Amino acid sequence: MMTSNSQVRAIFDRIAPVYDQLNDWLSLGQHRVWKHMTLKWSEAKAGDVCLDLCCGSGDMALLLGRIVGASGKVYGVDFAPQLLAIAQERCDRQYGKPDICWVEADALNLPFTDNFFDAATMSYGLRNVTDIFGCLQELHRVIKPGGSAAILDFHRPSQPAARAFQQWYLDNIVVPVADQLGLRAEYAYIAPSLERFPNGLRQVTLARQAGFAIATHYPIASGMMGVLVVTKA
Ligand SMILES: C[S@@+](CC[C@H](N)C(=O)[O-])C[C@H]1O[C@@H](n2cnc3c(N)ncnc32)[C@H](O)[C@@H]1O
Repeated sequence: MMTSNSQVRAIFDRIAPVYDQLNDWLSLGQHRVWKHMTLKWSEAKAGDVCLDLCCGSGDMALLLGRIVGASGKVYGVDFAPQLLAIAQERCDRQYGKPDICWVEADALNLPFTDNFFDAATMSYGLRNVTDIFGCLQELHRVIKPGGSAAILDFHRPSQPAARAFQQWYLDNIVVPVADQLGLRAEYAYIAPSLERFPNGLRQVTLARQAGFAIATHYPIASGMMGVLVVTKA
């Protein structure tokens, strides 16, 4: 079943009040480790202008803020206003109030000029956009030549035992826990979205077709997650 942009936005606005708590519970805190790995792969450094695409409640953008420091600039972009409001609140509570610019915009039509960013991150966003190839093309457009992006998301492991475990975990832990919070449908969508999501090899092909000179997919967490790392020539 096709999902429209407005349906995706509505899902994430509904999840917003419990999103951070559920991420911690359902990944047993591991999403923080995977996000740190993604940050390293993005090659963001002090003084850079960085993008966190589909930033949600701001985890990656806040991490980028620490790396780029006062001489750099971070833009967190998402189209769900409820999640952006949480990102802004979290930012305001942080020591030194990092100067992050939260932008409500569509990842498929970014309000930035060409070659604007030194580096970019995207966590759990690519699987949710309605046009994966279009999103990679847009990302390629806004990154400077020589700049990189690291894109973290779920991945279907090729190893049958890991694949079976992932499906069991989604069916028996993720969906029932979300159900307790009245969000069964919102989390039951993960499995079918993962089924449709291109595997690592296919992601590499799409990234190359979108214009990236270098594209590598790193499976992590026994292949249950993956990070696509891309560089613009
Ligand atoms: C699973 S959340 C990930 C949030 C955050 N990056 C994280 O890792 O916690 C997916 C996010 O993608 C955003 N999103 C999906 N499609 C989008 C689009 N076309 N433009 C902007 N944001 C989009 C949703 O609003 C949501 O915040």
